[in-house]
Amino acid sequence: MGHAAQLLSPDPSDAPLRLAVLASGSGSNFQALVEALRNEPRLQVVLLIVNRPGCGAQQRAEQLNVPCQLIDHTRFDSREAVDAAVVQALQNAAVELVVMAGWMRIVTPALIGPFQGRLLNIHPSLLPSFRGMHAIRQALAAGVSHTGCTVHEVVVDVDAGPVLGQQAVAIEAGDDEASLSARIHAAEHQLLPTVVIDKGLSLLSQRTQG
Ligand code: GRF
Repeated sequence: MGHAAQLLSPDPSDAPLRLAVLASGSGSNFQALVEALRNEPRLQVVLLIVNRPGCGAQQRAEQLNVPCQLIDHTRFDSREAVDAAVVQALQNAAVELVVMAGWMRIVTPALIGPFQGRLLNIHPSLLPSFRGMHAIRQALAAGVSHTGCTVHEVVVDVDAGPVLGQQAVAIEAGDDEASLSARIHAAEHQLLPTVVIDKGLSLLSQRTQG
């Protein structure tokens, strides 16, 4: 099969499930996922989309040989227009499962609709606690003994979709945002690939049944 044909029409039976990652920042979760999937040939990250030129994720994509597309949100008039461009890019690459890994954008039905149940997000708290921005700071301010990370399906309400997996992280005496963030990141790098592989394999089995 030629390269173009492979991009546009995945084999419905035994081709790997085609994944994309959306990232705005350093991209450490993107990298953890790509590396974990080296041992899982049934799933493949075929595209990274970034919205910030030169972000860490874009640089990691180059090193990891993952195609990267920049969709610079500052060049669009509305959230919906950004999301429509993201959907177009995902559909051009025949993507079947999308992971928001540090995608610092509120997404709209323009993106959620076409990928209903196939759009995941990772958030640095044990949802439903500490939704929204600065979740790690919120946990420290609340004085809780544990926080962690959550992978969930994306719905219109921010950080409110069905939870697919969580990992707890203890807050230690003397923790600040940097130290706690480092341990949460380490937990995310384990949790995200585990949940994505589970979800991806379940989508693959639906594909073969359907
Ligand atoms: C992670 O903490 C994730 O939970 C949050 O954004 C951060 C992204 O980190 N949504 P990285 O860019 O993957 O290093």
